[in-house]
Amino acid sequence: MKERLEQLRTEALQELEQVGSPQQLNDLRVKYLGKKGALTEILRGMGGLSAEERPVIGQVANDVRSAIETVIDSKQEAFREAETNNRLLAETLDVTLPGKKLASGAIHPLNKVAQEIEDVFIGLGYTIAEGPEVEEDYYNFEALNLPKNHPARDMQDSFYVTDDILMRTHTSPVQVRTMKAMNGQTPIKVICPGKVYRRDDDDATHSFQFNQIEGLVIGKNIRMSDLKGTLLQFVQQMFGSQAQIRLRPSFFPFTEPSAEVDVTCVQCAGSGCRMCKHTGWLEILGCGMVHPRVLEMGGYDPEEVSGFAFGMGVERIALLKYGIDDIRHFYTNDLRFLGQFARM
Ligand code: PHE
Repeated sequence: MKERLEQLRTEALQELEQVGSPQQLNDLRVKYLGKKGALTEILRGMGGLSAEERPVIGQVANDVRSAIETVIDSKQEAFREAETNNRLLAETLDVTLPGKKLASGAIHPLNKVAQEIEDVFIGLGYTIAEGPEVEEDYYNFEALNLPKNHPARDMQDSFYVTDDILMRTHTSPVQVRTMKAMNGQTPIKVICPGKVYRRDDDDATHSFQFNQIEGLVIGKNIRMSDLKGTLLQFVQQMFGSQAQIRLRPSFFPFTEPSAEVDVTCVQCAGSGCRMCKHTGWLEILGCGMVHPRVLEMGGYDPEEVSGFAFGMGVERIALLKYGIDDIRHFYTNDLRFLGQFARM
């Protein structure tokens, strides 16, 4: 019996040596160690052994069993490891492959500049006010001291919807709307951004639709020097601390006195170049002290309060800031143009 057991061990180990798949391994386990396997078959004969032989043979049988089990276990472990390795190999990621480039959008330069302007004034304590683009003649002209048939209405050729309704030609009507909404209270400190419309033929410097930002301050003892200081602060934040301004007398029906404001040329810093037509200055906005009649129509007593207003074109500021030569670039959506502002 002992010989049969030893022979079984030799046979089993030989066969296990050749095993090529987990399936074969399992078959061998059943063949040798299973309930109906070869080892069990031999042990059935144990009954015929003497009491002295039995433990000896039992010991041999156990040794054979554990020898076979050990080999099976280590083979199984080897198969498992090989499978894991194969799977890892199949799932390998080539991290050196270049990634796909995703096209990313960018804020439109006009929105960017408008936001910058707004940020400067928000930093100075202003709030933002808005009004309709389709506006009543009353707010766009009348309440701004431009009565019907006033010759100054010719300054702005307008798109009329009806006799009394038009596309607003400037953001100044929001001044009037803000004053009326404030019901005589002070102070007022607002900026009013928005689109405006004029019957201009589109060219490098004109567009039938463009963007303005209006400013209005009303309070006690507001003086022209406050206006000038505010604008200097704005210009230096927008164009750099070296920027200076100058005020030239001008005319607007809704301000008195009125001024046109120039900034030192952003290109040549004032020494004279083509951009500033060798004057060293670039015009950027119109402004003035709110006209007493406008204050009155807005519900304020010009003896009690005073105020200043200014209005600027966002396109113009953007043209100057970025050295762009044609306003139409802002509207034609050429990605080669717009993409340049993505990383600014
Ligand atoms: N509304 C004027 C324009 O469109 C600009 C302006 C605003 C001037 C406020 C003075 C005060 O040209």
